[in-house]
Amino acid sequence: MNIKKIIDSLYETNQSSKEELAYIINNISGEDFQYLQERAYETKEKHYSNTVFMRGLIEFTNYCKRDCSYCGIRRSNKDADRYRLSVDQILECCKTGYELGFSTFVLQGGEDPYFTDEIICEIISKIKELYPDCAVTLSIGEKSKESYQKYYDAGADRFLLRHETANHDLYDSIHPEMTLNSRIECLNSLKDIGYQVGAGFMVGIPGQTTENLVEDLLFLKDLEPHMIGIGPFIPHKKTPLGKYEGGTVEKTLIMLCLTRLLLPKVLLPSTTALGTLDSLGREKALKSGANVVMPNLSPTDQREKYELYENKICTGDEAAHCRVCIEARINSTGNVVDMSRGDHVDYL
Ligand code: 5AD
Ligand code: FES
Repeated sequence: MNIKKIIDSLYETNQSSKEELAYIINNISGEDFQYLQERAYETKEKHYSNTVFMRGLIEFTNYCKRDCSYCGIRRSNKDADRYRLSVDQILECCKTGYELGFSTFVLQGGEDPYFTDEIICEIISKIKELYPDCAVTLSIGEKSKESYQKYYDAGADRFLLRHETANHDLYDSIHPEMTLNSRIECLNSLKDIGYQVGAGFMVGIPGQTTENLVEDLLFLKDLEPHMIGIGPFIPHKKTPLGKYEGGTVEKTLIMLCLTRLLLPKVLLPSTTALGTLDSLGREKALKSGANVVMPNLSPTDQREKYELYENKICTGDEAAHCRVCIEARINSTGNVVDMSRGDHVDYL
């Protein structure tokens, strides 16, 4: 197979066969990889020109009732120093963010039963009341369709729920007591309700094969989410997967490029996990078709406790510092920051 030809056809048609995708993932390197990155970047440019959207991330609780075997805030990690932000603290983060120019707030947390639907709705309505021009994104895991509807009615605009892997056996191997089917049902409910929906996966999960990664790509092509979060798996020593190797920067970048080519208009973040593996990881992602960054607005005194994986960057940096730092990184790639809500182009 001729790699450049496959890339050209993918660039033209936004489609590719399983075999071709697997061939690229297994064989691409050097000049061909650069070619793939250029085609992915051009595709991003076509729909979003040279802009990158910025979202403010607020990690409001690290309590979690789940036990995912890769995640540092799993319930069995008794060494995790647990915290919850109060409603007022969350609003304070939004205020800081708003003053720095942010107009999307991403509320992320473990699946923490303390935050009942009532409290979540209160938080959403308060943010919307104070900042009606801002978008609210939730990233709080699996809930019933009724709950998702309540949050939507309270004003939530978007919901992030990575599918993590689209292979049932691999999914089962890292998610005790959870099923991929229930994850997919949640994603479908969120879409039905009218959210802009984000799915996504980790690269380099122990046992993950090239075929599994192709399954992720084809799953996403079929689901057509508005946003797709892709990051390398990074081992956390206080978890069952702590002794395994993590995902690589290269493989993650390939997956970002292929995702951009298969879903040309998708909102694709350059993730903190990539920035953790490689000090220029986020810039490389922006060169591979990513068009969103999510700097942290969480209070610095709690930040390091939201440790999904080890050595996470920015845990000591004030929101204002990250805001400036990340803008400089974006500019270094020839892009400019767009501080608007940053809705999906089909959603405007
Ligand atoms: N390495 C990389 N990503 C992780 N996540 C959770 N734990 C890890 C880890 N050890 C990701 C999951 C989740 C998102 C919030 O963080 O994909 O959906
Ligand atoms: Fe936080 Fe650079 S983005 S220090």
